[in-house]
Amino acid sequence: MPATIVLGGQWGDEGKGKITDALAGESGMVVRANGGSNAGHTISTDQGVFKMHLVPSGILSPGTTCVVGAGVVIDPVQLASELADLRARGIDTSALVISDRAHVVLPFHSEIDRGEERLRGESPIGTTLRGIGPAYADKVSRRGMRMADLCDERQARQRLERDFDARNRLLEGYYESASVDTAASIDQLLGAAELLAPFVGHAEDVVQDALDRGTRVIVECAQGAMLDIDYGSYPFVTSSSPTAAGACQGAGIAPSQIERVIGVFKAYSSRVGSGPFPTELFDDTGNEIRERGHEYGTTTGRARRIGWFDAVAARRVTRLNGVTDIALTLLDVLDTFPTIQIATGYELDGANIRTVPTISADYDRVTPVLAPIDGWLEDITAVRSYEDMPVRAREYVSRIGGLAGAPVSMVGVGPDREQLVPVETRTPVAAR
Ligand code: IMP
Repeated sequence: MPATIVLGGQWGDEGKGKITDALAGESGMVVRANGGSNAGHTISTDQGVFKMHLVPSGILSPGTTCVVGAGVVIDPVQLASELADLRARGIDTSALVISDRAHVVLPFHSEIDRGEERLRGESPIGTTLRGIGPAYADKVSRRGMRMADLCDERQARQRLERDFDARNRLLEGYYESASVDTAASIDQLLGAAELLAPFVGHAEDVVQDALDRGTRVIVECAQGAMLDIDYGSYPFVTSSSPTAAGACQGAGIAPSQIERVIGVFKAYSSRVGSGPFPTELFDDTGNEIRERGHEYGTTTGRARRIGWFDAVAARRVTRLNGVTDIALTLLDVLDTFPTIQIATGYELDGANIRTVPTISADYDRVTPVLAPIDGWLEDITAVRSYEDMPVRAREYVSRIGGLAGAPVSMVGVGPDREQLVPVETRTPVAAR
């Protein structure tokens, strides 16, 4: 049974958790492939609202095995606390597998993240300060600590003492920051490692065995493809690959085992942190979308920047990731707008360009070519069948599918599970 990838098609916060949660019910396994506690997935069920950072969104579906893959960077204290919170709310967390190859985010990584942002002065990236960049930097520099190392009681304490000592010198000397409390941090880390150890194992083999058995596997990417380290708006990106290729690598699945790549896109755009955002709105429309969409970060609480749907960026993402179909979320947020815009092209220095500039200073200067579309001006939150959706809303959905170059297969009209409307007649890829 081949696997399905769920990836963010924009700059993160597209509602991937909700889509994964919806698919998890009919899947045997959900694997998280990249990122760390910089991600925040909000899922609303009849048991209440769940906000998770590291635990795969499938945990809320009984019988679904949840895997934290080798491509994830894990803050062990955060993960242990998320599991404890879930258990306290009656969620069974026993079917969790944590890759022994996943790298560990240590407290000094967050402090280095903070120090790097400070050194960037006037143009910080606006990271989540969760230590993600420094942890991935240690991984590729081949001095990282993996879950297997942390759970090896005999070695871990000694190794951590050495690492904390070196990094505290760096923090004090280079970043002019306070050092991290070594003894207290190590005790906390080893305490978390003890709680997590029973779940730590050869995740890639667990995933491959599941595929061999014919289990339906969902691979869940964090962040969004426009934040990809290689193909995003570098340096205003995250430090992992939230792409279809990255999903394979992070989950331990071969590209030939992937059957479906669902690109999750919001009906408009949002971005947290700095970086180019051609369709950004600075007016009341932007504010109204932000309030209607509750666009405040799950991880940092920051107000998200808001803009119209960017079809140039979307088309790039569907092409680079082989997106087979689109889940279009938060369509109901646009219910109140008489006119909705879509960026169908970019202009730079008076010329039309069809792609995304490589240099972020150029990307910053891009003007979007906006196509106005009549709004539907109706509350669609109670719609449960695509055929019952107002014609103008369907036209908008169809236009997005056509411009992005992949059919829309489901539309979100609200936060609840039943507010995900399947598009039975898959939107044809209209002439571009
Ligand atoms: P980092 O991943 O914390 O290093 O942050 C790098 C950039 O990615 C910043 O602009 C963050 O706001 C953004 N980012 C990281 N994780 C998420 C996410 O889950 N949703 C949206 N933006 C994110």
